[in-house]
This record gives sequence, structure tokens and C-alpha cells, in this order.
Amino acid sequence: MSAVSTDLDAYLSTHDARIQRELFDLLRIPSVSARSEHDADTARAAEWVAQSLRDAGLEASVHPTGGHPVVVGEWRGAGAGAPTVLVYGHYDVQPAEPLELWTSPAFEPTIRDGKLFARGSVDDKGQLFLHVKALEAHLKARGRLPVNVIVLAEGEEEVGSEHLAGFIEANAARLQADAVVISDSAMFAPGLPSILSSLRGLAYFQIDVQGPAQDLHSGSYGGAVVNPAMALARILATMHDADGRIAIPGFYDAVHAWDARVLEQMRGLPFDEEHFRAEAGSPALGGEKGYTVLERLWTRPTCEVNGLLSGYTGEGAKTVLPAKAMAKVSCRLVPDQDPAAIEALMKAHVARVAPKGVTVTVTHLHGGRPWRAELAGPLFDAARRALAAAFGREPVITGEGGSIPVVGDFQRILGAPVLLVGFGLPGENAHAPDEWMSVENFTKGMRAIAALWDELGTSTGRTK
Ligand code: BES
Ligand code: ZN
Repeated sequence: MSAVSTDLDAYLSTHDARIQRELFDLLRIPSVSARSEHDADTARAAEWVAQSLRDAGLEASVHPTGGHPVVVGEWRGAGAGAPTVLVYGHYDVQPAEPLELWTSPAFEPTIRDGKLFARGSVDDKGQLFLHVKALEAHLKARGRLPVNVIVLAEGEEEVGSEHLAGFIEANAARLQADAVVISDSAMFAPGLPSILSSLRGLAYFQIDVQGPAQDLHSGSYGGAVVNPAMALARILATMHDADGRIAIPGFYDAVHAWDARVLEQMRGLPFDEEHFRAEAGSPALGGEKGYTVLERLWTRPTCEVNGLLSGYTGEGAKTVLPAKAMAKVSCRLVPDQDPAAIEALMKAHVARVAPKGVTVTVTHLHGGRPWRAELAGPLFDAARRALAAAFGREPVITGEGGSIPVVGDFQRILGAPVLLVGFGLPGENAHAPDEWMSVENFTKGMRAIAALWDELGTSTGRTK
């Protein structure tokens, strides 16, 4: 098992305190993409990332889009014979609310117990930043990199990456790369480096049910006017059968059997269902009959209610027949389900099951394709060696239940293989209060990525 080169390791060790200070500065910017009151912060984070790329020795520019800006960094000094890699990450974060549940404030980074707490620490500023520092280590310690590099950092990942595919399409020639590398996911367990074999896709909907023109007295009208909350409950109840299978006709048509080798790998992973249940803080686990927890999370599609709103929800009782009801419903998708096809199926299904006496509309909010990795080839081999060098242990192949919508676009538009190596950990509280990133993983992650560029530079040149 090779080691991370001593010069890169020494550079990162020497500059450890400064690197941490800089990361804290980035984490202090509340770049919440979902909230327009934070637009100036999001723009500031984009400029900050661009400047950190320049400080590392790359050229960098900030590009306005119809939404939040895209940052592009470039270093092309390795020449035409060397491979070109594209690193993707996102500098936007999820809203930090409910703020009162944070042990220390969301935008005041704090280390406790080897964990760096802050919104965006692991998703994804910390992981984006460790890439910037890995590049810096090469460029400052050696004056060059063994590969040409493009860094693409976006500010809309947490709201569906609406403008990113268009940006990649419009700049496809400039962004042409032999490989795409992304750190926006987690390792399977502490000390166990992981390469992702799949991501689920997403089709996100809002269902609005309109009943009477305004709220009504539930005594004067109840029983004679269709109740939109009950109508919505009926609609939602049709989405699964008694075995937890999605009952929307045609929903599974494009779902294919999982690669037998990946399934076998999955069965060998050290996974304890009771530990998972306890960590989720849920009284019990549940889901589609006939599948293990990991199979349910990684290989099977879902339909989940993400939000529900209707009627009186304040203190005490109010006898009211609500005028309307609303649900946010998202479906996680697996290869080869197509978000547009699922949208059509969902709309047809809801129209079919909607009770009479209310008006039901289904709006598609955003979507993304599922993705499956190529688990062979020089990019994959280089990643295995680099992770082993930094973590002292061979990586495992894992799957993922979450989504990174742009991954499918990279493959489609650039035709480049995508490598997902993340340095988060189970229980990291991404999207929740007390989000954290392991300091050890940040440190080793920088070294693993620095080693990856060495490995790719010395491999056969082109990676596809
Ligand atoms: N970093 C996550 C993706 C992810 C989730 C990786 C869980 C590993 C585990 C990413 O920032 C994310 O949250 N994606 C959203 C995408 C959505 C808003 C389109 C998701 O999965 O909900
Ligand atoms: Zn996220």
C-alpha cells in the first residue's frame, strides 16, 4: 500500500492551522440558497471560493446564472498529454432552522470532540474546501499538478441545481474533462474509506387540494362539504400498498435488477440495523417488504411525504373545515427511472384517485436522474490506491439514498466518468441541527485527494 507523498503531507501539516482558519471563514458565511434574504451571502460565498482558488494558484471566475452564481477555477499547466479532471462541489447550504436546536450557533464553527460543527461543514463546504487545499498543496509544494484541473462550484445544489445543466451545456467545450470527481457524500463508517456506486434520483411534487372558497364552520358544513384534508389523506394513502410497494401504476417499469457484484459487496458491509434505528431515533424501521435496510435505501425507489399542511394546527381545538390542504411529496428514483416519466405517472395517478368535490393540482418542483457508477477503469483504480494511501485501508463500495442532480448531467453532457468519494460519516446531521464534519476525515480527505492527482497523473494519461 503506497503512502501519500511526503512533500504534500508536509505542506498540509505545516499549514494546518491556517487551513482550518480559512475553512472557518467560509463556514461563517450563511449561504442559504433557498432564502432570498441570503442572496448577498450566497454571492459572497461564491466570491470567497473564487478567491481561495486564486490563492491556491488557479485562475478563477464567478459566473452569474438565472439563480446563484457558478464559480469556475482552472489550472491547465499539465499540458495536452495529461488527463483533465473536473472537481465539482457546492458552496450553498440548507437553511439552519430550527436554530434553537443547535448546541453552538450554525454559522459559528466550533470543534468539539473531533467534530467540526457548522451548517455546511460536511455538506458541502468542508468537502469542497478540502479539494481546494489538495490542489494548493500540489501547486505550492511543487509548483505544478500532474493533471489539468477544472473546479466547478455551484450555489444551487440544495435547491435542485436548476441552472447548472444549462451552464454545463453552454460551456461544454471549456468544461471538457476525462473524469469528474465529487466529494459530497459520506464514508460507510469511521476509518472506512468509501467509493459510491450509485445515487438515487428525485422527482419532487407539491399536491394542492382546494375545497370550499374559505374555511367553514365544521358543524354547519361538516359532513355535507368535502373536506380537503381528508381528500388529501385519501390521495396519499393510495401511494403504497400494504407491503410498502409504491402503487402508482407503471412506477417500477424502468427499475432494473441490481448488479449482482454490488449486491454481494453490500451484504458484506458492516451494517447493524439496530444501530441504524437507534441513530435515526425512530421507534422502528419500516419499508418495502422483502428488502434489507441497505437495499431499501440504495436500490429501491420511494415516495415520501416531506411536508403536510391543512386546517387548524395551533394550540387547543378549533372546529373548522379547512378550505385547502397541501402536501410536499418526493420520490427517490433508481436506475433507469426518468424524473419526467415519473412526473407523468404521478399526475395521472393523482387525477385518477382524487375524490370528487375538491380541485387537486400536482406541481413538479424539481427532479434529477439516478446514477450508477462505472466500477472499473483507471479513475476507479487510482481512487482505490489514493484512499488506501490516506486511510491505511482499502475502500469499500457503497450506495447512496440521497441525490446529487448534476451527476447524471455530467455523464450525459461531458461523457466523462464520475467518481464519488465522500468524507462525511453516518450521523453527521446533514440538513439538520448540529451538522458536523469529522476533523480527521477533513485532514485525511485532503491527503487522499492530493494523492489521487498523483495516481491519475501517473496512470495511462487518459482515463476513458
Ligand atoms: N450531499 C447531499 C447528497 C447526499 C445526501 C449525499 C445524502 C450523501 C448522503 C446533497 O447536498 C443533497 O442534499 N442533495 C439533495 C438534492 C435535492 C435537493 C435535489 C438531496 O438528496 O435531497
Ligand atoms: Zn445537502
